[in-house]
Amino acid sequence: MKDQLAALLARITAANEAYHAKDLPIMSDAEYDALRQQAAALLAAHPELGSAAALENIGAAPASGFAKITHIVPMLSLDNSFSPEDFSEFCARIRRFLGLDASPLHFVAEPKIDGLSISLTYEHHRFVHAATRGNGTEGEDVTRNLLTMDCFPRQLPPTGPARIEIRGEVYMTKHDFLALNASQTRQFANPRNAAAGSLRQLDASITAQRKLSLFAYALGDVASPVAATHWAYLQTLKDWGFDVNPLSKRITETTAAQFQASIGEARAALPYDIDGVVYKIDDIALQNRLGFVGRAPRWAIAWKFPAMRATTTLEAIEIQVGRTGALTPRARLTPVNVGGVLVQYATLHNEDEIARKDFCPGDVVELQRAGDVIPQIIGVVTPGPHHQPFSFPTHCPVCGSLAVRDADEAVRRCTGGLTCPAQITERLIHFCARGAFDIEGMGDKTVQEFFEAGLLKSAPDIFKLPAREAQIAAREGWGKLSAANLTAAIEARRNITLPRFIFALGIRRIGENNAKLLARHYGSFANWRANMQAATQIGSDARLELGSISGVGLTIATDLAAFFAEPHNIATLDELAKLLTITDAPSATTSTSALAGKTIVFTGTLTMARPEAKARAEALGAKVTESVSKKTDFVVVGEDAGSKAKKAVELGLTILTEAQFRELAELI
Ligand code: IVH
Repeated sequence: MKDQLAALLARITAANEAYHAKDLPIMSDAEYDALRQQAAALLAAHPELGSAAALENIGAAPASGFAKITHIVPMLSLDNSFSPEDFSEFCARIRRFLGLDASPLHFVAEPKIDGLSISLTYEHHRFVHAATRGNGTEGEDVTRNLLTMDCFPRQLPPTGPARIEIRGEVYMTKHDFLALNASQTRQFANPRNAAAGSLRQLDASITAQRKLSLFAYALGDVASPVAATHWAYLQTLKDWGFDVNPLSKRITETTAAQFQASIGEARAALPYDIDGVVYKIDDIALQNRLGFVGRAPRWAIAWKFPAMRATTTLEAIEIQVGRTGALTPRARLTPVNVGGVLVQYATLHNEDEIARKDFCPGDVVELQRAGDVIPQIIGVVTPGPHHQPFSFPTHCPVCGSLAVRDADEAVRRCTGGLTCPAQITERLIHFCARGAFDIEGMGDKTVQEFFEAGLLKSAPDIFKLPAREAQIAAREGWGKLSAANLTAAIEARRNITLPRFIFALGIRRIGENNAKLLARHYGSFANWRANMQAATQIGSDARLELGSISGVGLTIATDLAAFFAEPHNIATLDELAKLLTITDAPSATTSTSALAGKTIVFTGTLTMARPEAKARAEALGAKVTESVSKKTDFVVVGEDAGSKAKKAVELGLTILTEAQFRELAELI
């Protein structure tokens, strides 16, 4: 018995280390949970072997151990494209945004290296520190690890800027990856994992033994401009002593597909792994005008190589119930390796897709995986022996309520609302997740466990958990330390910003972006709540205002009104407000622009494209709405303006010409 326990604990320790410290999971989450359960059961049945705390001590994720560094300019990701059509659409979007004519755009194309991104900061021309991407805003300080690598300069010439963040990719060559795996028993799955595992070593002497390389390719913060084009920037990086990918090339929109194909052909023979090509607008002034949307630049795109395919058996069609009651089918497959990743589940989209492609458990199907996208089933290769059309459930598989489908919708939804355990738990999981309250330790499993135990029925209950710390500590698999950690994690989140709070509520169609728009428009929780309640009245001023917030629109206004029309939701909201401190949305007044905090309406034809005008105004802290009201500060009137301009005159609002707007927006 003792040996059995020791063996289990050793495997759990190894799994923890592999997962947290080495970026190299050696088992699935399910296997890991099963091991922990077995160990917990052994300890419970044989207290003489030790206390349950033995398990706890090895269960916790080790503190990362790296200091944190805040990136001055956030490290973003890239949008993906997979076809010439996607790429053309990307170019068309740029043209629409800037109001350009059809002449081809100029790009720099660079192989997309499969490694991990890094930001190197230089102050007064000296290298000061290096950070991983982390969550994009804050990364891990890996300066000591980087200093073991000789593939980047420690000093920039005195002609360089006084401060600069240089971004690039740390990677391991295929050759060095194979040599590393051959030299040790621990096996990394691919060069990317090997690079990440080698760089993120608390003991920098281990990094020193690994061969890592770096390509520089982007710019973060900079004290003074380095170059007018991305191409010139790359040449400067080379002059400064960085490695810049030698396959990078200046191309135009019309030759992109050709370049994509040539890199695709060269791919297998390259000394490092790549998963596509990144296309970046060459002119940096244009890049700045294009700016960012969400977490990705408008001026760059990653065109990924075609997906990898495999065939396997569709074992079952499982139906999951989401937080808004949507019944989502997914395919359980006989696990199969698709381009280096073991795939067991694939998305099936919705019931029409299942009917159209005629999927049935038992069929042999072809699936594909593209980048980080969830694998998809392309079609049936051989129908199974009992093949018949799949009948999609008409009732919720969790609570049994009727599941209905609106005429214009692809999705069937459970009508159980808050009587459906799946909807409640999914909402609670969303509430605690990253981007929302981000409570460490309150993942799906804990939420599920507490819900089943009756500790958690609605969101406010989360903030009552600290009062039940002793009760939680006594639960199987918990203990004093874990319970205290959970209390601390919850207490740390009693302060929340308005956009995160709105997002956490899990209202249909209110994702992070829309939550930000709402928070910015209404400013404070009290003001938002009052306006939303008023907006439940169709035709009210509040409803019109909500629908006219640029980017919100009528459908979203309807969803919000539906949420606020439920007395139960208002009660939950008010209970939460009592338990929390909800800080106002970061006010636009941090911007010193004359447009900060102003509400603007554009009407008529402007010489600058409408999307760019709108983005510029928003970047300076203004709110852009579609309709004119008493609350509008400025109406920017272009040529052939109609009723909005007339209404602005009637209301006595400030009317700006495009030239006046450009002046206020500092575009002249
Ligand atoms: S540019 C704002 N260039 O791809 C521009 N990224 O999906 C940010 N990557 O996190 C990135 N090669 O780790 C850029 N030549 C290249 C790249 C590249 C690889 C990675 C990078 C980034 C990810 C985005």
